[in-house]
Amino acid sequence: MTRNVLLLPGDGIGPEIAAQAARLLEACQKAGLDIEVEEALVGGSAYDAHGEPLPAATLDKAKAADAILLGAVGGPKWDSIEDLSKRPEKGLLGLRKNLGLFGNLRPALLYPQLADASSLKPELVSGLDIMIVRELTGGIYFGQPRGIEERNGERVGYNTYVYSESEIERIGRVAFEMAQKRSKKLCSVDKANVLEVTMLWREVMERLAPEYPDVELSHMYVDNAAMQLVRAPKQFDVVVTGNMFGDILSDAAAMLTGSIGMLPSASLNESGQGMYEPCHGSAPDIAGKNLANPLAMMLSVAMMLRYSLDENAMAERIENAVGKVLDDGLRTADLTADSASAIGTDAMGDAVLEAFARQSA
Ligand code: NAD
Ligand code: IPM
Ligand code: MN
Repeated sequence: MTRNVLLLPGDGIGPEIAAQAARLLEACQKAGLDIEVEEALVGGSAYDAHGEPLPAATLDKAKAADAILLGAVGGPKWDSIEDLSKRPEKGLLGLRKNLGLFGNLRPALLYPQLADASSLKPELVSGLDIMIVRELTGGIYFGQPRGIEERNGERVGYNTYVYSESEIERIGRVAFEMAQKRSKKLCSVDKANVLEVTMLWREVMERLAPEYPDVELSHMYVDNAAMQLVRAPKQFDVVVTGNMFGDILSDAAAMLTGSIGMLPSASLNESGQGMYEPCHGSAPDIAGKNLANPLAMMLSVAMMLRYSLDENAMAERIENAVGKVLDDGLRTADLTADSASAIGTDAMGDAVLEAFARQSA
């Protein structure tokens, strides 16, 4: 049966890395993958064309797709749009919320070849393999009330950090099940010494634990977790946390693996439909210069094959192709201090495609 993949390039470096993902999808088709690929607009590019960061046509296509691949959205060009509901980021948040993509998996995996690209000493990161499970459709990102308004002669801005027991429970189950498939260690990150919402978070995680007796559950405050991630990151295996803490910790974890340009992600809903995107943003500082590392995007294709299309062998082929390219010493500028030897986005895409083709032959 032909499956539908919706490609949403977005803004900034989004289209540059999406072009490499599109070529990779073509190579997968040649290798026997039965998919149809369609493209649509989201973010600033959708705002420019239709006045909306998430046009109804894009949302309809996303709902109908078996899987969605997204580049990145946002950029300074749109930062002054006064109607906050029209900002590019709202396109991404709208997709997550409308499709119910509550379970965000962000695997911070160090390719051994990149140990010296990490900002930490190689011995601290060698063998690093952390899975951050981030709640993606709740918490302070979506809580009501929110806004900026006049109070007592000055403006105040406010957001609401709220989680219901059922929201905590369902992300907790994703994390416990992930821990069961990995090293059976789960660390829940919260701020339960201060915030009631995360006291409840901790209580619900504790309540679930007896249902997963093979998993060892621990808890850590988020400030300590940030510190431990850069002190001794290998103590972590699966980490589960709320929307905002997960956003912050996953960028920090990304750097341990050499670059934010290496970290893919999957965002899953209750029916297994998924959206796949690199964890990084639209990188306006390097957009349009053929400098972006396309590997997080290409590894997001591998995650899509694994989690939504049930094509594990093809996913592995992509991951092995990335490993091969790194073995060969190929590096985009973010992965090396030696800028003279760095290759561009297109050349990195070429190299992965070649390695992929050699493996499938
Ligand atoms: P960013 O991730 O875009 O960039 C941070 C730094 O990392 C920059 O120096 C950038 O050049 C570098 N970088 C990021 N991806 C890279 C890649 N693939 N290869 C090489 N270098 C890379 O974060 P930011 O600067 O805080 O945000 C820029 C814009 O992106 C903002 O509008 C923000 O809202 C948006 N954003 C979007 C997403 C998303 O679409 N999922 C995620 C984060 C930020
Ligand atoms: C991410 C991004 C998004 C987030 C923004 C662009 C809405 O930083 O995917 O990590 O905060 O979730
Ligand atoms: Mn982020």
